[in-house]
Parts: sequence; structure tokens; C-alpha cells
Amino acid sequence: MPADRPSSVSATHSPTAGADTEPLALTGAGLAAVRAQFPALARMQNGRPYVYLDGPGGTQVPRRTIEAMASYLEHCNANHGGAFGTSEDSDATIAEAHAAAADFISAAMPHEIVFGQNMTTLTFAASRAIGRTLRAGDEIVVTRLDHDANVAPWLALEEERGVRVRWVEIRTDDCALDLTSLERALGPRSRLVAASLASNAVGTLNPIARIVEMAHSAGALTYVDAVHAAPHVAIDVATLDTDFLVCSPYKFFGPHLGLLYGRRELLERLTAYKVRPSSDAPPEKWETGTLPGEALAGLLATFEYLEELGSTARVAGGLSGPAGGVRGGATRRDRLRAAMAVIGATERRLARRTLTALGSVPGLELRGIVDPNRMAERVPTFAFTLAGHSPREVATQLGRRGIAAWDGDFYAYELIRTLGLAESGGLIRVGAVHYNTEEEIDRLVEALGEIAGTRIVGAGRD
Ligand SMILES: Cc1ncc(COP(=O)(O)O)c(C=O)c1O
Repeated sequence: MPADRPSSVSATHSPTAGADTEPLALTGAGLAAVRAQFPALARMQNGRPYVYLDGPGGTQVPRRTIEAMASYLEHCNANHGGAFGTSEDSDATIAEAHAAAADFISAAMPHEIVFGQNMTTLTFAASRAIGRTLRAGDEIVVTRLDHDANVAPWLALEEERGVRVRWVEIRTDDCALDLTSLERALGPRSRLVAASLASNAVGTLNPIARIVEMAHSAGALTYVDAVHAAPHVAIDVATLDTDFLVCSPYKFFGPHLGLLYGRRELLERLTAYKVRPSSDAPPEKWETGTLPGEALAGLLATFEYLEELGSTARVAGGLSGPAGGVRGGATRRDRLRAAMAVIGATERRLARRTLTALGSVPGLELRGIVDPNRMAERVPTFAFTLAGHSPREVATQLGRRGIAAWDGDFYAYELIRTLGLAESGGLIRVGAVHYNTEEEIDRLVEALGEIAGTRIVGAGRD
């Protein structure tokens, strides 16, 4: 697919878009045009539109992603490296997916992008390879905020290599990382720090640049879990200077896939678990077996969707300058970055609305950052308990009303235990992405009010 073709702009900002403090936010006709691109959003339940607040577990995909997957299977469904047309076309799609993913996270080159089944599988593979370089007594630092997929693979090295695992604690009042405990955990034997950009349970955005800096000062590598951050904020591995970063396209409007970034020199130097005939060069040496070509074709289309969203920002005249600027001759990287600026603005509005609205539900106790002045430190993922009702009961009641919300520990295993919620079913989690609406937040809060036995109408409205 041509990455730099001019976008036909189907999503526009309404003239009044974000007349408040977020001029880039999608509202009105612009938001409706975005939503129209996601076929799943047309689902109805009990005569009302279905409300997807399960984004942290997986997002919906634009129509073009579905079509690209079908088109791959129809036109170039072949294995890698053949001397014939369909294999060449398939390989071209796969190469372009690496290039687009490199642009999405600002990697230096496509060879630094490794695709796999999902983040968990990639992290087990990477941790095994890194583990081969470690000796008994070496130390790895993990956090109590992370999804277990960025903890368990490192814990396994305790048993396998005699590595010592040290912990970064959390502050229970706002579920933010306690960086003084990171300072204490770092030392002369530190070899790697595994931390996340954003918490998939409570939405905290971690000061990851600072964490990477601290790890590097101690001589440790960094392994950043950006799975929960990727649908919400622009990821820039170059500025972040991390050694590794992982995310999952199915959490940012793409198909079920995992994506690992590794610094070229590390991907080359480390010994991967691979079959002998496959290439010794990255990314092939890390991409074991046959890649899901149709999913990579779909992911390319997801990036195109985002590019178009970024171009829309230029049409709206809202973006200029290097940070989010889309100007004439802009690159795919610029457009993807601009898309994330639009997404960020849209989500901040939704986050403020959600925070106010949830605050109106009697008996609802929100965990994480609740200060409206600290919205820049979180993404719109909110987790809470409702007095007198188990999380599963609340999620079930919401589900019956056509509202998809998760309950449990979301594999944020240590966090839920640190908060003392493991025995009581964990938390209820609602997560918005840019295609969600303020009306959906009102629906959520009205439903929670009913479950709590109170009538609440439009509590979050400005
Ligand atoms: C923050 C975070 N890390 C890791 C994972 C695991 O991702 P995957 O399903 O791609 O293995 C998830 C999935 O929910 C997540 O939210």
C-alpha cells in the first residue's frame, strides 16, 4: 500500500469542535464520521446502541482493516520467500507493515520491529534470550503496577538463572509508582528494568522517560510495556531511549498481534530461540514460524486510518509545528503523530467528563489519579468499586444494559493484591478511546446509578 498517498479526508471536525480547552478534540460531525468507520459500533442491544467501554481489553477496528484482511486472503495468501507473485506480494505487505510500525513508534528502522502472536508471547521470547546473558546474582527490577506479562517472564529467570528480582512499589492513594523505591532497587548488579508506560488497570501514565534514565544510569537495560498506552499517546522510542518496547495492535484499532521494538544492536547481538534455517538477521531471527500475513495487512490499514485522522487535523487547521504538525509534504510519521494529538485531545475531554460523572454515583470508589488537575498523568481508563455490589455483579448488570465493561484484576496481579482487592473480585474497569462519546459516559453513569439504586441523569455534563 502506498504510505504517502494523499488522504481522502472523511472525518472532519465540527466547527464547534472542542470549543473548550481542547480545540483538536473530535466532537459532533467529526466524531460521527470517525465512528461511521467502525462497523462494530453499529451493534444494538435492547434497541439501544451498544456501548464499548472494554477498550483496555481490546479495541474495535475500522472497516478498512477488515477489508484489508479479506483482501490479503483473497489476493496474496502465500508463505514467505517464494519465487512467485503471491509470495512476493505477501512479503511486500509484511515489509510495509514493519516500516509503518517503525513510523508509529518512531523507531530508527523497520528491522527494529518484530511481530508476534501477542505481547505476552514476545516478552517470554525476549526474556528467555536476555536471560541467556545473565548470571546468578544479577538483578532485574519489576513494578507492582504492571500487567503480569511484564512481570512473570522476568520472575521465571529467578528460578532459571538465579537472578534476583527487585520491586518498585506503588503509592496506594493514587496508584502511581514510588520512584524512591526504584532508586532503592537499582544497584551495581541491575541488568534490566521492566516497567509500563501506562497502567491497564487504573490508567496511570508513568514517568517512563525518567525511569529509563534512572535505569540507564545504573547500567541496566529497559523493557517498556506500552500495550495500554498505545491507543492513547504517541510513542517515541527514540526520545524515550528505551532498549525494548512492546505493544499490541489489537489494543489500538488493529488485528490480534504483538509488536516488539528492540534496539538494532541488541536484536542482532542477543541469541534468539529460532530454527536453524531461518535468517540470523533481525527481525526474522525473532519472528519464529510463519507470520499472520492477513493480520499484518489489516494493521497496515489501521495505520492508514490513523494517518487519515492525522491529516484531518491539518484540514481542521489545528496543528502546526514539529510536535504534532502536519504540513505540506508531511511524512507518515508526522501524520501518525498528529493522529495521536487528536486522539489525546478527544480523550482528555472524555476523561474529565467520566471523572465528574463517576463522582456522582453514590458508593462508587475510584482508584488511581482522581485529581482533575492531574489528567495529564492518566489515560481515560477508570477502575472502581461500588459499595454493596461485587465487580462481577456490576459488570453483569452493565452487560445486560448493553454496556461492555471489565471486572477482575486484568492481570494487574500485584496491584490488585497491594490494594487488598483480590478476595473481593478486584475492580470494575471502564476505558474510553477516541471513538467513545459523552452520551455513552452518560449511559454508563445512569446505569451505575440504577445499580446503586439512585437515579442519575447526565451528571458529567459541563
Ligand atoms: C498493559 C498490558 N500489558 C500486557 C498485556 C498483554 O498483552 P497481550 O494480550 O498482547 O499478550 C496487556 C493485555 O491486556 C496489557 O493491558
